[in-house]
Amino acid sequence: MALILGIETSCDETGVALYDTDNGLIANELYSQIELHQAYGGVVPELASRDHLRKIISLIDNCLNKASCKLSDLAAIAYTAGPGLNGALLVGASVANSIAWANNLAVIPIHHLEGHLLSPFLGNKQLAAPFIALLVSGGHSQLIAVNKIGNYQLLGDSVDDAAGEAFDKTAKMLGLAYPGGKHIAALATQGSDIYKLPRPMINSGDLSMSFSGLKTAVLTLLNKLKSQNIAIEGQVLADMAASIEHAITDVLIKKSLLAIKMTGIRQLIVCGGVSANLTLRAKLNKLAVSNNFSVHYPPLELCTDNGAMIAIAGAYRLTQKQFNYNFTVHPRWDLSTLNIGE
Ligand code: KG4
Ligand code: ZN
Repeated sequence: MALILGIETSCDETGVALYDTDNGLIANELYSQIELHQAYGGVVPELASRDHLRKIISLIDNCLNKASCKLSDLAAIAYTAGPGLNGALLVGASVANSIAWANNLAVIPIHHLEGHLLSPFLGNKQLAAPFIALLVSGGHSQLIAVNKIGNYQLLGDSVDDAAGEAFDKTAKMLGLAYPGGKHIAALATQGSDIYKLPRPMINSGDLSMSFSGLKTAVLTLLNKLKSQNIAIEGQVLADMAASIEHAITDVLIKKSLLAIKMTGIRQLIVCGGVSANLTLRAKLNKLAVSNNFSVHYPPLELCTDNGAMIAIAGAYRLTQKQFNYNFTVHPRWDLSTLNIGE
């Protein structure tokens, strides 16, 4: 048995969790800064760093107390070393390294996207590579072939906005709060896909994706409706939300199926904040049945950023024990640089 403390501070969630290699997730504390940033319509890096600093120690204490553990019970502390906001990353990195140094514990820098990739394992320990990962977050829309854990081959990426970014930016146009994905999803349950927004690159034949054209299409539609004196509220708003959600999810499911067909790997895992989208899940579940592949997701509450995914990634990387407390963070960090060979 090994107990790993995971710390996530790459953006606007302070996440701390305890993962036990025998018993799974045993404590999970999350503090969201969303309200702090909402007035600005996006994350303000300096405010994010300061808020992480204010919260992180009490979250660590809460985690240890709830699980009745002491620091000396830990095998290691895992922390997000990138990609993300420089100052925010430095808070998690310095706290993790300081506590580890003071207590003679191993410390493990984790790639944030590897955390997302392994988050479905938090709900299903039986999962195993190979699989295709559809990683859809605020900053990424990627299809990745995972032949074994620690080996990540990028198959396709968004050429412009990420899927979550497309949700957030179009939500802002509709006057919804940041981050807008869950607000669009909630409104969409009352609406229908009547506006038939463009699905850019859906038939490009490769695994590249594009979502920035959706913003222009939504803006054009908004202007058209306004010129007809149609208020963007009630059913109109719900239908716009449903149309946006269907446009984004149609591209994601089509590209996922193509990745499965191209590689012959018949297991898909979906991760990152957008994997909480229930329309995406329903469409993929249906596609999986008709095309004979399996699909797995993180538990709903662990789709967006959290400490649990960093702790489980730490458990997978525990073999590379390190007691070197010199640290650096990587605001930009290519996942493929992690590869540990075929
Ligand atoms: O993975 P995440 O927490 O942060 C990044 O690493 O980027 O993802 C956040 C993204 C945001 O763009 C947010 O709007 C989106 O996930 N999101 C959703 C839903 N919940 C969160 N998008 C669509 N439907 C949802 N239910
Ligand atoms: Zn994330």
